[in-house]
Amino acid sequence: PLRPIPLIAGNWKMNGVTAALAEAEALATLVATHGVARGGEVALCPPATLLMAMRERLGRSGIATGGQDCHARASGAHTGDISAAMLKDAGARFVIVGHSERRADHGETDEAVREKAAAAVATDLIPIVCVGETESQRLSGEAVRVVERQLDGSIPDGVPTEGIVIAYEPVWAIGTGLTPTLADIAEMHEAIRRRLVERFGEGGHSVRILYGGSLKPGNAREILAVDNVDGGLVGGASLLAKDFFAIISAL
Ligand code: G3P
Repeated sequence: PLRPIPLIAGNWKMNGVTAALAEAEALATLVATHGVARGGEVALCPPATLLMAMRERLGRSGIATGGQDCHARASGAHTGDISAAMLKDAGARFVIVGHSERRADHGETDEAVREKAAAAVATDLIPIVCVGETESQRLSGEAVRVVERQLDGSIPDGVPTEGIVIAYEPVWAIGTGLTPTLADIAEMHEAIRRRLVERFGEGGHSVRILYGGSLKPGNAREILAVDNVDGGLVGGASLLAKDFFAIISAL
């Protein structure tokens, strides 16, 4: 099967005010000047307050933007929430759903994540659906089973397989500087691929599976070269153009 076009997405989380857009602009210049290896795609997911201004600063660099969450409904009485249509209106192409920080901080279940992903697909946004085991789940040997269950529950039926992205983020690797071994990453990404093919048939091969969790310039090349790793979801190292571009260059 053909390898999907790789994607490197940056998740700024709750970091970044207007001044930080200088980094987005610097990234746009780097990408416009040097291009992206393997025809890869690049996206930045800032706090929603920055989406429109960031879209402007990124100009014609080809770098896409994304939200970090969306509500399952299209509009209505949901104070503090943002719909997929609003993200789309702000120029976004992607939206992260079910990040472990939202699962932990906001009690998001697989079912809630699935509804958000369906809302994104219905709005023509590409959901980046996050899955990943905790440290205790890994230590007790349940990692693959946990991730399979999250996949089954968090991906809506009937989605176009090119229109959905999975991010595998082991919770214990997020922001800790720790990463799984390359063999563990390969094992998990292969298990995810197998599950996607079981569910979606051949189309399962076109779903991009990103790795996330302490991805850095120093480890990006070896991690991004692992089979079934179709790119990365980058937290801390996406905040500075220089670091993020080093990861992009490692594709
Ligand atoms: O969504 C990306 C993130 O959870 C990984 O964070 O800071 O470990 O790259 P970080």
